[in-house]
Amino acid sequence: MTLNALNHNFAIANHLQFIEVDSGLIFAEINNAHATASIALQGAHIATFQPNGEQPVIWLSKLAKFAPGKSIRGGVPICWPWFGPHKNDSKLPGHGYARTVPWEVLETKALADGSTFLSFGLIENDTTRAQWPHESTVQLEVTVGKALRVELVTTNTGKESFELGEALHTYFHISDVAQMTIRGLEQCEYLDKVKDFARFTQQDGIVIESEVDRVYVSTTAECVIEDKGLKRAIHIAKQGSNSTVVWNPWTEKADKMGDFGKDGHRGMVCVESGNARENVVTLAAGETHKLAVVYSVEKL
Ligand code: BG6
Repeated sequence: MTLNALNHNFAIANHLQFIEVDSGLIFAEINNAHATASIALQGAHIATFQPNGEQPVIWLSKLAKFAPGKSIRGGVPICWPWFGPHKNDSKLPGHGYARTVPWEVLETKALADGSTFLSFGLIENDTTRAQWPHESTVQLEVTVGKALRVELVTTNTGKESFELGEALHTYFHISDVAQMTIRGLEQCEYLDKVKDFARFTQQDGIVIESEVDRVYVSTTAECVIEDKGLKRAIHIAKQGSNSTVVWNPWTEKADKMGDFGKDGHRGMVCVESGNARENVVTLAAGETHKLAVVYSVEKL
């Protein structure tokens, strides 16, 4: 759909308009009574979310590129329909293809409390079908209010069951990694990617002082990112998710990635709600699975 048609069909006064950036990517720009946010139609990728009077909640790299077919560094990339490398084919893209393909707008509406609701559907084509030979639909429903609510809804529209891996790979904006502790995963088991996926049990709150890349398994716990520098806590409350991934690439890996910016890794942490590794979801024919997460801020 063209920019004009999107604005004609889906823009809402005092809530939402669509804009096109230089690279040709189109963004939904939300500006309502509670917050501002922007969402790229490519990947249904939430790039920013900032409640009024607050610092940004979501981190977006200063060097993020908005290029067709490329994942954006920061925001809320959608990992779907697998998480991490593909199970049997290393040539397929890590974290699936959903984050780099076009999605369409299905619905937008202003809610009675002043929030803005948007829903998006992934557009299938021959390339996506070649990578994922299962009949299915996936939608992202986003409510931008004082809090940000995100739901990823997958339906098996075929006749055979399939295994689904997924995550909302959310990058959070923090004052400095040394000022932050993640709580909620105490006593959970995790697989440590930095140590060849060895299994450990988390003892205390998570403090990051080097590369961290962990899949916490079989946990439905709410997580809290306590940030002494910004004097706030970000709450991450989830449903339909049994894994939580915590990631910070630290200096060397971030430098190699080239799109973090100098010391960019110090101002972010990923706390990803999903279903990965031993928690992949088996979806029977006709079944729908919903992963829902609410991000909210509390002053400390
Ligand atoms: C995390 C993975 O979820 O995503 C990491 O656990 C990975 O291993 C990171 O490096 C970023 O992935 P990408 O593909 O966006 O660079």
